[in-house]
Amino acid sequence: MNENIVLIGFMAVGKGRTARELARQSGRYAIDCDDLIESFSKMKIKEIFERYGEPHFRRLERETGAWLENHVDSTVISTGGGFVNVPNLKNIGVVVYLHSDFESILARVMDHPRAVKKLEKRPLLKSLKKARRLYDSRLNVYRAAADLEIDVTGRKTADVARSILQQLGIAPLVEGK
Ligand code: S3P
Repeated sequence: MNENIVLIGFMAVGKGRTARELARQSGRYAIDCDDLIESFSKMKIKEIFERYGEPHFRRLERETGAWLENHVDSTVISTGGGFVNVPNLKNIGVVVYLHSDFESILARVMDHPRAVKKLEKRPLLKSLKKARRLYDSRLNVYRAAADLEIDVTGRKTADVARSILQQLGIAPLVEGK
């Protein structure tokens, strides 16, 4: 298995910022699946959904999953909320689920100075009712896929990253801020 750390979890739970902090603390690089998809397709995620629909986006996710397994090692990988469904997830690295309850995720997005932008770029957050249903249906999927679950509710990113490294038995190169 590749020595990657793969962060999964619901939209806007903080996978990207946790990946960057994990990278900083462990001396690895961080990459993000949605960024890879956007650079590969030369389109924003929102545009991919609008022009080609969700099934096409899911295909791109599976292709990215295959590419990661074959080309990426010793890296921290943040994923989109639906990446948990790519069939080779477990071959990419150790899978860490960042958990928070739906209300806390939403409250954190709304509190953010760029809240509108954060909501706009996520097509599946457009309807809160549907987003909640998606959250409920994904919770067990995340848990079943995870090698490790971390509750991130109300915690600082540096603290979350520190406990992930500790629980994975990876010595930090620098202390969390
Ligand atoms: C999705 C989550 C998004 C992005 C796409 C679909 C999902 O990523 O991949 O809009 O299915 O949950 P984030 O989890 O970074 O918001």
